[in-house]
Amino acid sequence: MLMIEIKNLTKEYRGESDTVQVLSGLDFEVPAGEIVSVEGASGEGKSTLLNILGTIDSVTSGKILIGQENIVTMSDRDKEKFRANTLGFIFQHHYLLPDFTVLENATMPLLIQRKSILQARNEAEEMLEKVGLSHRFDHYPSQISGGEMARAGVARALVGGKTLILADEPTGNLDRKNSDKLADLLWNLQDDLKFTLLIVTHDQDLAARVPDRYRLMQGKLNKIS
Ligand SMILES: Nc1ncnc2c1ncn2[C@@H]1O[C@H](COP(=O)(O)OP(=O)(O)O)[C@@H](O)[C@H]1O
Ligand SMILES: [Mg+2]
Repeated sequence: MLMIEIKNLTKEYRGESDTVQVLSGLDFEVPAGEIVSVEGASGEGKSTLLNILGTIDSVTSGKILIGQENIVTMSDRDKEKFRANTLGFIFQHHYLLPDFTVLENATMPLLIQRKSILQARNEAEEMLEKVGLSHRFDHYPSQISGGEMARAGVARALVGGKTLILADEPTGNLDRKNSDKLADLLWNLQDDLKFTLLIVTHDQDLAARVPDRYRLMQGKLNKIS
């Protein structure tokens, strides 16, 4: 089964006087349960592509199916549900909410899925254990290390049985040692939970571990390896 199927995707930003063509007839297929990278120079449209797949930016034209769902024609309300149930986001700047504990941060996506507080807490605790943060439940983001913040961000992205994880420069903020730890963790979790993982990255050490690599250039994706 394909997790992502993109056909002839175009995206342009129209300004008052000019139009920026970012994606021009891009095709992309990702089988379910794969790890793929999207690499490429700054400004080539990597974040734009990720935001479109994340249903937070619109397309100019083209077809996109995610797990057989047509996200191009989806209503805003269905997009919200789709994001809550299917998509997980990992960012360079983890965006943990500073006024909530690690456990509360990881519980929130499950409450958005309308699970009971008890169920949500149990699932969040289980995921935090998987990422090695069982000793940090009651800490606030400001009280944990950068590596721990990144792992908390991973736990928050994965809770609730998400099947497509979109990661924009997940190691962008980490030193080499923590980057390697995060990659080990992501690979182990993927092996365990079988989600599809799409990683946008400049990090060549991280990219070297990815089995299927693509480069975004001049609005199209080309396979690297
Ligand atoms: N909201 C926007 N309005 C106009 N142009 C944009 C907007 N967002 C991105 N762009 C332009 O689209 C191009 C691709 O941006 P982006 O997807 O952020 O690239 P990358 O993530 O590969 O660095 C850039 O030229 C950028 O200036
Ligand atoms: Mg970007």
